[in-house]
Amino acid sequence: MRVLGIETSCDETGVAIYDEKQGIMSHQLYSQVKLHADYGGVVPELASRDHVRKIIPLIKQALLEANCTEKDLDGIAFTKGPGLVGALLVGSSVARSLAYAWDLPAVGVHHMEGHLLAPMLDEPTPEFPFIALLVSGGHSMMVEVQGIGQYTVLGESVDDAAGEAFDKTAKLLGLDYPGGPLLARLAEKGEAGHYNFPRPMTTKPGLDFSFSGLKTFAANTIRESDGSEQTKANIAYAFQEAVVDTLAIKCKRALKQTKLKRLVIAGGVSANKQLRSQLAQMMKSIKGEVFYPRLEFCTDNGAMIAYAGLQRLKANDVEGLSTKAKPRWSL
Ligand code: KG4
Ligand code: ZN
Repeated sequence: MRVLGIETSCDETGVAIYDEKQGIMSHQLYSQVKLHADYGGVVPELASRDHVRKIIPLIKQALLEANCTEKDLDGIAFTKGPGLVGALLVGSSVARSLAYAWDLPAVGVHHMEGHLLAPMLDEPTPEFPFIALLVSGGHSMMVEVQGIGQYTVLGESVDDAAGEAFDKTAKLLGLDYPGGPLLARLAEKGEAGHYNFPRPMTTKPGLDFSFSGLKTFAANTIRESDGSEQTKANIAYAFQEAVVDTLAIKCKRALKQTKLKRLVIAGGVSANKQLRSQLAQMMKSIKGEVFYPRLEFCTDNGAMIAYAGLQRLKANDVEGLSTKAKPRWSL
């Protein structure tokens, strides 16, 4: 079985072809980061227009690279939601039109299911059941995963997502959009012990997150600081340390609560080196296993949508061509 996957939920146009036996046959990604950088965040209308410009050339390129035609495909998967409605509509319209023209089934995929299954794109793959920590720019969730489509959300952010907190704090530190990776780089120059950020919602029981307080704490700390480059690096260090500690505490709690020993971390923030190493250490200490997607599949991409779509197709979970987009959609 072979599936073309299309991702357009935010500011990356991702197209990939995934084959059940051969794995990823092609993976194309166009990032709109430069387009939005001047505005300090994603401008939805510009995002939609840029997806329109890039999507067909990327699909042609993917087919060329995979050395196949539409006749070799068994379905087309697209991100149905959640995300920016205009951006989603571009991917869903193109996917459903091609599916109609090529007489293929179209499968609408949940963006966070795509992230959740991204570690399956490479060996070794995690066995079910496991706990998944999903940390992206739009969502933060702790999910108990029993199998494909069997997801129980154990906790989620009550305000900002982890990536959003990274981006907003980075902006306060004068860094460009998207600031998460830039803040992480600045933190490498920071020293421990200068600032102590809170670890939100860790003293109370439960698996929900709250990150907006950290951003406010950062704003106050920056305002009262001398504003030097070293001070900014120290603040970035302390902010990152607090987010990573908070996520690690919640993961440990979720594993204990469910008596599971396998952890998957996915979504844009799972590219964070500090998070990856701290969770690896934590899992070693409890004799468990941890799985991450390869770095390029932590952030948005078409491969994770092709993979998730293929699983849906195998389960015969196909939708009519009238399905459009679901900007708000819980997992
Ligand atoms: O999953 P993703 O590509 O898009 C959404 O679905 O939202 O995640 C993007 C988020 C952004 O907030 C970005 O700043 C953050 O992931 N991010 C990072 C790192 N790389 C990406 N945050 C912290 N450290 C990183 N290395
Ligand atoms: Zn995403």
